[in-house]
Amino acid sequence: MRAEDTPLIRLEDYRPSDWLIDTVDLDIRLHHNRTRVRSLLSLRPNPAGRPDAPLVLDGDELSLSALRLDGLLLNDGAYTATPQALTLHAPPRRRFTLMIDTEVDPSANTKLMGLYRSSRVYCTQCEADGFRRISYFLDRPDVMSVYTVRLEAAKMSAPVLLSNGNLVAAGEIAGGERHFSVWHDPHPKPAYLFALVGGALDHVRQDYVTADGRSVELAVYVEPGKADRAGWAMDCLVRCMRWDERVFGRNYDLDVFNVVAVSDFNMGAMENKGLNIFNDKYVLADPQTATDGDYASIEAIIAHEYFHNWTGNRITCRDWFQLCLKEGLTVFRDQEFSSDERSRPVKRIADVRTLRTTQFSEDAGPLAHPVRPRAYKEINNFYTPTVYEKGAEVIRMLKVLIGIEAFRAGMDLYFARCDGKAATIEEFLACFAEASGKDLTQFARWYEQAGTPTIIASGRYDAGARSFTLDLAQTTAPTPGQPDKQPVVLPVTLGLIGRAGDLPLRTTSAAYAGDGLIVLDQPSLSVTFSDLDEQPIPSLLRGFSAPVRLELDLADADLLRLFSADSDSFNRWQAVQTVASRALVGAGRNTAKRDALAATAGELAEVLIPFLRDQAPADPAFAAQVLRLPAQADIAREIGQAVDPDAIHAAHRGLSAEIGRRLGPHLLALHETLDTKAPYRPDAASAGRRALRNEALGLIALTSPEAGARLAEAQFAAGDNLTDRLAALAAMTLVPGESREELIGRFAKSYAAEPLVLDKWLMAQALIPEAGTLDRVRGLMQHPAFSLGNPNRIRALIGGFAANLTQFNRPDGEGYGFVAEIVIALDRTNPQVASRLLGSFKSWRMLEPGRKALAEAKLAMVAQTPNLSRDVADIAERALG
Ligand code: TRP
Ligand code: ZN
Repeated sequence: MRAEDTPLIRLEDYRPSDWLIDTVDLDIRLHHNRTRVRSLLSLRPNPAGRPDAPLVLDGDELSLSALRLDGLLLNDGAYTATPQALTLHAPPRRRFTLMIDTEVDPSANTKLMGLYRSSRVYCTQCEADGFRRISYFLDRPDVMSVYTVRLEAAKMSAPVLLSNGNLVAAGEIAGGERHFSVWHDPHPKPAYLFALVGGALDHVRQDYVTADGRSVELAVYVEPGKADRAGWAMDCLVRCMRWDERVFGRNYDLDVFNVVAVSDFNMGAMENKGLNIFNDKYVLADPQTATDGDYASIEAIIAHEYFHNWTGNRITCRDWFQLCLKEGLTVFRDQEFSSDERSRPVKRIADVRTLRTTQFSEDAGPLAHPVRPRAYKEINNFYTPTVYEKGAEVIRMLKVLIGIEAFRAGMDLYFARCDGKAATIEEFLACFAEASGKDLTQFARWYEQAGTPTIIASGRYDAGARSFTLDLAQTTAPTPGQPDKQPVVLPVTLGLIGRAGDLPLRTTSAAYAGDGLIVLDQPSLSVTFSDLDEQPIPSLLRGFSAPVRLELDLADADLLRLFSADSDSFNRWQAVQTVASRALVGAGRNTAKRDALAATAGELAEVLIPFLRDQAPADPAFAAQVLRLPAQADIAREIGQAVDPDAIHAAHRGLSAEIGRRLGPHLLALHETLDTKAPYRPDAASAGRRALRNEALGLIALTSPEAGARLAEAQFAAGDNLTDRLAALAAMTLVPGESREELIGRFAKSYAAEPLVLDKWLMAQALIPEAGTLDRVRGLMQHPAFSLGNPNRIRALIGGFAANLTQFNRPDGEGYGFVAEIVIALDRTNPQVASRLLGSFKSWRMLEPGRKALAEAKLAMVAQTPNLSRDVADIAERALG
């Protein structure tokens, strides 16, 4: 496949399906390489479709065994079956049934789309278009059907059989050697939400009664022997179900809810109705094999998939252009859940970090696209940070703009009006326009326009008039296919900080909406605040009220006063980030400015020392975020052109080491006192203490390698949990030498039987910022812990390497060549994972000319490879385009 040969699918070409499928009866006999699928479809013409249309069912690598219409075998002339399509040339213009027999080979399915086997477990992945790899179907989200599924298998190989909905029958056949189960899902759903699981699995179970009185049996299924690692996921599930009842008034709607963990999975997890299937990385947890970060991700992803039951399943998408309708909204919901369960400011900071490093960089490069794309060649390439994370930011802005109450009323209206439908962004926004009485026409631009807006802000104090005028302007740089940008609606939350904290906000400006909110919907505007006896420092975008870059004319000293005096935690954190970022951008752009880093470190230390002493103990999770500098990728993007990754890395290290040197004794004290020696508990407060302690350890290792290595070794030896042991390993990777290699070896031995832990071990090594890393990574590909067949292994080792700013971008281009070759090799077995990996090239255009040319050459090499998948061809073409 070459990208140029692939049709472009356009939003404006949408038309309703010519046919509808009311019911689907599946009868599936699981077999490791010859699984028989019989699908009985009840079809009828769609009144909204074309009256004379043929019936074309989608397929993908399918082979048809038999076809019956209303029970009668069809003769060859009546239809055409290819691997990609089953066409009925003259279908009846009435209700009729089709019985379609296909046979598939789950063991040969390395793409992990459709029906496949993952370490002896049968499972499915149908979003976005995997159902057509199981049977011919109208595989589009606006065709919704009621499913009944009969599964049959040898009892030995698949003692557990699961599908969507409720279990209605089960029994043994062939003298007990085989068995079956029948599942019925009363809620009409698109094919992408179909799922089945078969295999030998252990589980944990819990009873749950919904707020509206329904008894639900919850279960989490895992590999045999791992049930003692399923407790946390179950705990998260119960908490998020209660939360959705309380916060959104949403109850669960089936008698069972099953979660299954599998070890080979292309993404994080999947919200199949009543049968969520997860990458085991996001289910399994115990203190020895999961970090605090893993516990938090499991909580977020269990909630995310569960929340999809309303935002995704009961209300689904009309077409794949509306993907953000379910994804952005559901990410927003899972972020809110985690905020309520943990620290809201710390969660916001963590989310903004991710947004900046993943989404802002996507929006700044050749793969930039709107939250709702207008056209695609391969939909799987649009499950992106823009659709997910920026999509969530758009919902968050909507809430800020219309207020909490109108937002909740809008959500209620959406649930009431669109339940059971395949909806659009327009229908979603109409609910909020109605609930708030506001015109959201301009707001809708957020869905159409790509690129990160910049707000340029400056303030003037007039002592005579006792007033402060804030000038705000917005611009958005051109992105591929969108040279001219229109102003968007930007909610700018603010405070004015005086000597004694927040000053009153008094203004008659129409742009001021009250409650500390300015709505910037023009290219520029000014707001004058009155009755101010002193010159205030503006605290803008509190809580990061809009996903933008902010250019602020505040001196470092003023920012550092904000750090000490602002009542908004996010902006306190942001103040330190901004000061550090300015210095890093300066030194990253021009190595002569490296000397200035010491001065910046001095300024920062002056506020950080009292902070660490007086405030950090009360909120260590926040303090850990304050100590963590902006990511190197963020500095690269701020520089924006002729980027030299080595200069950025040197600046980053230099500033960290200078800060570490100045905070030295305080860091040692933190490392000492935060060691509670209490048994591990995963709660947010305990995790916060470990986060700060380990942040301190990292800085110590950078500043004084010997002291750092000693502490790291002791921490590794004493650690009763993976969080502390992995942090010790990470600190140690900063210190080249014998003891590092020794600890790397010891780590591998301790966790030899734990693939998910070894993923972290692979990644820690792939991230070492030294010239030897490429050879090390090549060597690790031969390690028994690695396999090109497993997506988690690839993301850990190869994905880790591609995220290593200096080594992926080696000046000799070998990093690009290495990743490009793996992309090409992997494309033959798993195009989705290959194309994600190729996405690592997304920032190549901002590099300095030497690296830029080398990266482009490797991208071109990929693009010219014969027989590429549509997935990889599309990314290569757009990255080069
Ligand atoms: N809808 C899933 C989610 O956001 C993600 C998803 C989409 C997915 N396509 C997939 C997961 C393919 C695995 C494989 O929760
Ligand atoms: Zn999702």
